[in-house]
Amino acid sequence: MSLLDVKNLKVEFETADGVVSAVNNVNFSIDEGKILAIVGESGSGKSQTVFGMTGLLDHNGKATGSVMFEGEEILNLSNEKLNQIRAEKIAMIFQDPMTSLNPYVRVSEQMTEVLIHHQGLSKSDALKQSISMLDAVRIPDAVNRIRMYPHEFSGGMRQRVMIAMSLLCRPKLLIADEPTTALDVTVQAQIMKLLADLQKDFGMSIILITHDLGVVAGSSDDMLVMYGGEIMEIGKTEDIYSSPTHPYTQGLMSAVPRLNDSEERLTTIPGNPPNMMKAPEGCPFAPRCNYTLDKCNSDSPVLAKVSDNHFRACHVAKEKIS
Ligand SMILES: Nc1ncnc2c1ncn2[C@@H]1O[C@H](COP(=O)(O)OP(=O)(O)O)[C@@H](O)[C@H]1O
Ligand SMILES: [Mg+2]
Repeated sequence: MSLLDVKNLKVEFETADGVVSAVNNVNFSIDEGKILAIVGESGSGKSQTVFGMTGLLDHNGKATGSVMFEGEEILNLSNEKLNQIRAEKIAMIFQDPMTSLNPYVRVSEQMTEVLIHHQGLSKSDALKQSISMLDAVRIPDAVNRIRMYPHEFSGGMRQRVMIAMSLLCRPKLLIADEPTTALDVTVQAQIMKLLADLQKDFGMSIILITHDLGVVAGSSDDMLVMYGGEIMEIGKTEDIYSSPTHPYTQGLMSAVPRLNDSEERLTTIPGNPPNMMKAPEGCPFAPRCNYTLDKCNSDSPVLAKVSDNHFRACHVAKEKIS
C-alpha cells in the first residue's frame, strides 16, 4: 500500500468570469520513504494540487476525486480533522518561511509550543527536542540560537528553522512547495541536500514542488511533470532525465541552467502558459509545442506507458521527439 494515493483529483475555482479548472484528473502515488518531485512552470497547477489534497484551497475552490493517506480517505474531511492531519502527519513548507514563522516570537517559543500542544511534552522536554531538531537541520550553535527571533536569521538559516518546525511532530509526509526559490543558488543546493539527508534520517516521504527542473535531478526518486493542470509525464526521475519523452519536459530541460554555463538560462519555452478558464479540448501544451499534430488540438492525450513506471501523455510518437 502506498502512503499516499491520489486518484482523479480535480480542482476548480468559481470566479466572476467563470470556472477555472486548475487541476484536471491528476493521478499519482507515493510510497513510504520516497521523494516525488512535481515540476512545471508557474501556473501549471502544482500548488493547487497539494492544496486541494490537504484542504488548503481558497474559499472559491473545490476539490473532487480521492486522496487516500495511510489507507484512509482524507479529501474534504472536516477542517478540524484536516488541521490535525496537517499538524501531525502531513507537514508543509513554503517558499517564504515567514508564512510559517512569526517574526515577533522567539524561535524557542514557536517550536516548543508545537510540541507542548500536539505531543503533550513538558516545557523542558519540548525545549530539548526543539534544540535537537535545530541540530538536525544543521543550524550551528542551536542551543543559543534557539533564543533568537526569525528575522535575526539569514534567508537560508530561516528556511532551516521552518524545516525544523515542520518536522517536530515527525510527519509521515513533508510537502515542500518551492522551498528554495527565493534563495541564491548555493544556498538552494544546501537546502536540497538537507532535505535529502533529513529524508534518510527521519524516513518520511517528501513531495518536492519546483518550477526548476535543475534542482530535481539528484534529489528525487520519482517525478511528475505538470502543465495546464494535467500530468504530461510521470516516472522515475532518472528515466525521465535520461530520456524525456514529452515535448514539454524536453522544453523544461533545455531551460535548465548548467553550472558551467556563463548564461543563466539557455532557453525558455516560447509562448505563455494556458488560460485555465476553459480547459483546452486537446493537449494543453499544443499551442506551444514544436511537434503539434491535428489531433493534438482536438483530442486530449491520455497517459500511456513508455516503460515500467514511466508514462507520457502525448500523441506524437516518442521517436519523433529529440
Ligand atoms: N482562488 C483562485 N481563484 C481562481 N483561480 C485560482 C485561484 N487560485 C489559483 N488559481 C489558478 O490556478 C492555477 C494553478 O495555480 P497554481 O497551482 O498555484 O500554479 P503553480 O504551478 O505555479 O503552483 C493558476 O492558473 C491560478 O491562477
Ligand atoms: Mg505554486
